[in-house]
Amino acid sequence: MWICSKGAAESLGGGSTYKSYLSCVLSCCVFDFIAPSGLWSAQALEMSVGKIPTLEAVNGSTVILPCTYSSCIGIENLYFNWQFNDNGTMQKVCESTIRAEGVEPDVKIYRERVDFVGMNHQNNLSILLRNITFEDGGHYTCFGRNPKEKFKNHSAIFHLIVVDELRVVDNTLTIMIASAVGGAIALLMGFMLLKNFTLFVLAKLEEKNKECLVTSSGIDNTENGLSGTKADSKPTPKKK
Ligand SMILES: *[C@@H]1O[C@H](CO)[C@@H](O)[C@H](O)[C@H]1NC(C)=O
Ligand SMILES: *[C@@H]1O[C@H](CO)[C@@H](O)[C@H](O)[C@H]1NC(C)=O
Ligand SMILES: *[C@@H]1O[C@H](CO)[C@@H](O)[C@H](O)[C@H]1NC(C)=O
Ligand SMILES: *[C@@H]1O[C@H](CO)[C@@H](O)[C@H](O)[C@H]1NC(C)=O
Ligand SMILES: *[C@@H]1O[C@H](CO)[C@@H](O)[C@H](O)[C@H]1NC(C)=O
Repeated sequence: MWICSKGAAESLGGGSTYKSYLSCVLSCCVFDFIAPSGLWSAQALEMSVGKIPTLEAVNGSTVILPCTYSSCIGIENLYFNWQFNDNGTMQKVCESTIRAEGVEPDVKIYRERVDFVGMNHQNNLSILLRNITFEDGGHYTCFGRNPKEKFKNHSAIFHLIVVDELRVVDNTLTIMIASAVGGAIALLMGFMLLKNFTLFVLAKLEEKNKECLVTSSGIDNTENGLSGTKADSKPTPKKK
């Protein structure tokens, strides 16, 4: 509670409007007041790895692991790091301390093929992984701790999945199968249409035939074995 009111007062002194002061109070302080245990409280510092914290990438490619932080009470000597969960043991990927918002930190990097590209521009702590291998796949934690908040820990986890190029081939295969099935259906429909058309033509021809039978029956139908109902029902005087 003390941190919150102090932070809120500072942000008010920092030239922010009454509205943002109010929203800060609402988002941080009120919730901290309701749930001082922290179980249910909205945190002052928040780490975020984006709305979709999962990425599938082909081995050998270069990926960005995104992370940003936000804090309505402001930061001072914010400690952050990236950790890689290697079979349960957390390996530090990189770490640094950010003196203040907008200040570019000196980042220590402990893992090969890693660059700090976020540069703390707009609270950006993203890192770049070059030429990823299958061993790079797993969970990466973006961790932050703001001394202004009695050293509360905050983190967000990003999941990197490294796939073989084969998966891409699989996709094209699926597309091929899908188009083959589509083609088969089209063929079937075409065949059915053709069949309907043929039946229609045959029916028309039959109609014509019947007409022929009817018209010809009066003259001569003895040699005509075809069963035209009208022709049959008619008396056939010339029958022997
Ligand atoms: C990705 O992994 C496969 C299978 O291990 C390998 O054949 C391929 O060369 C790798 N590609 C790259 C770009 O490293
Ligand atoms: C991680 O776990 C897998 C299977 O549990 C094991 O084969 C592998 O050796 C482990 N790797 C490390 C670095 O401990
Ligand atoms: C963070 O920085 C990286 C690299 O410059 C950039 O690709 C990414 O879009 C940035 N993220 C945000 C939220 O600004
Ligand atoms: C990526 O890693 C592979 C295997 O370690 C290596 O052969 C290749 O040269 C690397 N590519 C780049 C662009 O670093
Ligand atoms: C915060 O994380 C550190 C390890 O980085 C740990 O030593 C400490 O106990 C954690 N603090 C809390 C309050 O969880």
